[in-house]
Amino acid sequence: WVRAVQPEWTVNRSKPKRVVDHHAHKGARGDVVIVGGAGDAQKDHSMAGACTLAGAAALHGGAGRVYMHLLDARAPRNNPLQPELMYRSIRDLDLQKVTAVCGCGGGDAVGTLIPDLFTDCKQLVLDADALNVVATDAALRTLLQYRAQMGWQTVMTPHPLEAARLLGRKDAAEVQANRLQAVRELVDVFECVVVLKGSGTLIAGPGMPCHINVTGNSRLATAGTGDVLAGFIGALMAQGMPAFEAACAAVRRHGEVADEWPTATQLTALDVAHRL
Ligand code: APR
Ligand code: MG
Repeated sequence: WVRAVQPEWTVNRSKPKRVVDHHAHKGARGDVVIVGGAGDAQKDHSMAGACTLAGAAALHGGAGRVYMHLLDARAPRNNPLQPELMYRSIRDLDLQKVTAVCGCGGGDAVGTLIPDLFTDCKQLVLDADALNVVATDAALRTLLQYRAQMGWQTVMTPHPLEAARLLGRKDAAEVQANRLQAVRELVDVFECVVVLKGSGTLIAGPGMPCHINVTGNSRLATAGTGDVLAGFIGALMAQGMPAFEAACAAVRRHGEVADEWPTATQLTALDVAHRL
């Protein structure tokens, strides 16, 4: 009852799902809104880099416009190395306009936004701290069920430890001991598409057979590749791919980039984003 992610899920550049015709403008390619990157002023930490990686992946994944709403007030309002990213205040977050949102590196600050994101955004990708917030607030499950009833699309992308927190398991090892059961349980509880990351990433969704990814290798075990995956899934959804298909295609291509990378050279998360 597990299928391999097949080449038909591959991102096919010659046949985009949403046909971008000769008269198309950037709005026709879909907007991605990245929310996250909270800072910790006391520790002088910032997670703005996670958002940059997700944003770069969304751009290279084909989104027409990428808006960055960072929760860290001290974070810079532009990125000279990726000037296409448009930085906006968190106060100006227009949830109705959002095509896809990635919560990454949000800390507690992302928690205050999550209920609004859940009730207003029709397409959501939840990663990292956004998942940790869901793990600690049972009321958010009801909102996820509401989203499912409304036919709104949600993708969760936990790594094994995030999955353990979501399922109330002791540690990541408990999830790794039976990954198939874990991903199925996550789908049952949260009623959305779930990408359980790691070697042999599993993709499952309500009413869909579980798929296992056959691409990728341990060169992806480097900080930030998860943020890249989240931004890429968001970009494919923004371009009109249904959530399950977008998750399968993005996971497959993300792994392929690592397989194609020359063995003698280290792969970084930004390299993955640039080669999607
Ligand atoms: N084989 C195949 N794919 C792998 C492997 C592997 N051995 N190892 C990792 N990957 C893939 C995963 O499937 C996933 O797509 O790389 C990605 C890693 O995603 P995350 O686990 O979310 O990692 P990420 O968030 O990018 O960074 C990890 O870095 O900055 C810190 O605190 C941050 O804990 C976080 C850590
Ligand atoms: Mg991560």
